[in-house]
Amino acid sequence: MEEQLQAIIAETESALASVEARSQLDQVKATIIGGNGKLTVLMKGIAAVPKEERPAFGQAVNKAKKQIESLLTQTAESLDNAEDAAALGKTADVTLPPSGNYIGGLHPLTQTKRRIASIFRQIGFTVAEATEVETEWFCFDALNTPEDHPARDEQDTLYFPKESRFGNVSRKTEEAYVLRTHTSSVQIRTMLKEKPPIRVIAPGRCFRRDTVDATHSANFHQVEGLYVDKKVTVRDLKAVLDHLLRELFGKEVKTRLRPSFFPFTEPSFEVDLYSSNLGRLSNKWIEIMGCGMVDPKVFENVDIDSKEWSGFAFGIGIERVAMMLHGIDDIRHFYQNDLRFLSQF
Ligand code: PHE
Repeated sequence: MEEQLQAIIAETESALASVEARSQLDQVKATIIGGNGKLTVLMKGIAAVPKEERPAFGQAVNKAKKQIESLLTQTAESLDNAEDAAALGKTADVTLPPSGNYIGGLHPLTQTKRRIASIFRQIGFTVAEATEVETEWFCFDALNTPEDHPARDEQDTLYFPKESRFGNVSRKTEEAYVLRTHTSSVQIRTMLKEKPPIRVIAPGRCFRRDTVDATHSANFHQVEGLYVDKKVTVRDLKAVLDHLLRELFGKEVKTRLRPSFFPFTEPSFEVDLYSSNLGRLSNKWIEIMGCGMVDPKVFENVDIDSKEWSGFAFGIGIERVAMMLHGIDDIRHFYQNDLRFLSQF
């Protein structure tokens, strides 16, 4: 009896081993526990078993039946799993090393901005930030830039109309708003908030109505600087800018101030830089930034007494510095987010 049961179990096992589809599984099931299945037939034989042996017989058959049912369920499960795996495609080998170890990094403009900020932090400057949408007053008037100055031309500055309508929403403002064309507006915001002495830099985004090419972008970045104290001179201005440019481009860098004009500084200068170690730009004077002594008119506009206080201001383009530092010849690379470019920094 026990031998017969063991034989049926063994037969079930070996039949299941070659099962590859649900129909084959059903067939095995039928031959063992179906109406005329081997185990069923054996069970029916209980009638011929002597009465006192029947409980043991019943128990043995039930035990074998459970075992067979569990074998059938196991096979059904592995058929399900195989179907799922086939539907999902090839299973992933999670032990393989990843195909690339790219973890991202800071944009070269952010790196350059942080480098400039850390140079100024060493000499006591703090960072000020202000809004990119400005009123004309902060961007131009307070900076002594007259109404008819070419920088205020609509060809150069991006204006928000005083009256506008978006769908059902209309908007009317007293003042004209602009996208700031330079970070010099932060000078005004700082001087209205803080009393001198003042030592700030203002890094930030600027906008001009420029046609985009290799050296122009309608959106670019500047770092503004403002220093206000007693008896500040051009010599202080030159010393601070020399420090900046030598920290950035190397100790051998030579600089010169060339007379220029900005409405908000008097006198005003362009700063030129000369180095034998600047790749394509080596051994020639290159214009790098604008600067000057804060115009008394500007102090007057923010209620600072120009008899007591004096100061200097400067503005430097972050793109320009980054391009010179890394020998980049097209400003558009900064904004295209091409990983082949960005991953070099
Ligand atoms: N704002 C000037 C520009 O955008 C730069 C500058 C800043 C010049 C401060 C003088 C003083 O070109």
